[in-house]
Amino acid sequence: MNKSKDLTILAIETSCDDTAISIIKAKANGFFEILANLVSSQIDLHRQYGGVYPFLAKREHQKNLPIVYKKALAVAKKKKNFKKIDLIAVTAGPGLEPCLWTGINFAQDLAKKENLPLIPVNHIEAHILINFIGQNLKPTKSELKKLLPAVCLVVSGGHTQLILMKDIGSYKIIGETRDDAAGECFDKAARILGLDYPGGPIIAAKAITLDAKNKYNIRLPRPMISSKDYDFSFSGLKTAVLYEFKSRSTRDRKTKKYIQEMAKEIQAAIVEVLIKKTIKAAKDYNAKAIILGGGVTANKELRKQLTEKIKKEIPKVKYLIPEPKYSTDNAAMTGLTAYFSWLKKKKTWKKIEANANLRID
Ligand code: KG4
Ligand code: ZN
Repeated sequence: MNKSKDLTILAIETSCDDTAISIIKAKANGFFEILANLVSSQIDLHRQYGGVYPFLAKREHQKNLPIVYKKALAVAKKKKNFKKIDLIAVTAGPGLEPCLWTGINFAQDLAKKENLPLIPVNHIEAHILINFIGQNLKPTKSELKKLLPAVCLVVSGGHTQLILMKDIGSYKIIGETRDDAAGECFDKAARILGLDYPGGPIIAAKAITLDAKNKYNIRLPRPMISSKDYDFSFSGLKTAVLYEFKSRSTRDRKTKKYIQEMAKEIQAAIVEVLIKKTIKAAKDYNAKAIILGGGVTANKELRKQLTEKIKKEIPKVKYLIPEPKYSTDNAAMTGLTAYFSWLKKKKTWKKIEANANLRID
């Protein structure tokens, strides 16, 4: 493969409950073109369990992968810029191990059949680097100099990490959750309230519909908000939601007003902690940019409040956040990250191992 040429990458992402395949073109001029971006969600299947059930997810990935692959190829082939696939990228971790292996096995079989090189991708890094799509940001040395070091907040159903990014490919985890992830807290709290899975978007929607007057005056804790480190803890918040819920009469628990007030307070508690720690990290590390990624960053309140806080407290700091469709799991981010890996290391793989706990640093 030649560095100075356009590279068409087929990327596969199956780290959790989305079977995602993208075909992207990394152009020699530094920009990316998405030729196909398909996500087959298993939400309907996992809804009944209130969360992702790994072995069921694995079975669905096995079933979905050949179908999504065919569709993605058909979509890409209709684009005038599509010629052929040059490289296959696949998420190697972190994630649910049985799910990761499904994507890896599919990628390896395809690579063998088509005689194509493979590149493994770290899912957390992909959530960060997706910010280089669609922002018209060329990741050239001079552009990167304006952004680095950056503090990255990756918040999803499986992860809550604050990462110091020194360069593309060079990271240090400076804080993370000691128990549940922020998205997991949204999902578990929603379950307590009798709401559907995934809880994040549903809680966010309920919180918006609330009128100004409070009836229940709910106050939930903001765990670790004043701790000196950059760590998080969300399992206590989930327990507090449960106790608050149990303290109400069965009639109150079911009222629209109670659910809305709970939703608003749950969202407020999670958002407040995430923002406080992110701003603190950005200040302490003299970050030039704050970069967000992961499903929870689709949350409008988080986006709004963080924008306001940055403007007020650290106006010189740049702020990158993906479009909501690129916040949640997708394979465009996998392809893009593989491209950066290729530019840096010039290395491809024949065999890839899944690593459920793969670290970014
Ligand atoms: O990144 P993602 O798609 O998958 C994982 O890698 O986990 O994130 C999914 C998580 C779920 O916990 C979901 O409830 C949460 O992101 N989420 C949201 C919103 N949209 C998705 N949380 C809060 N507000 C949202 N609008
Ligand atoms: Zn994710």
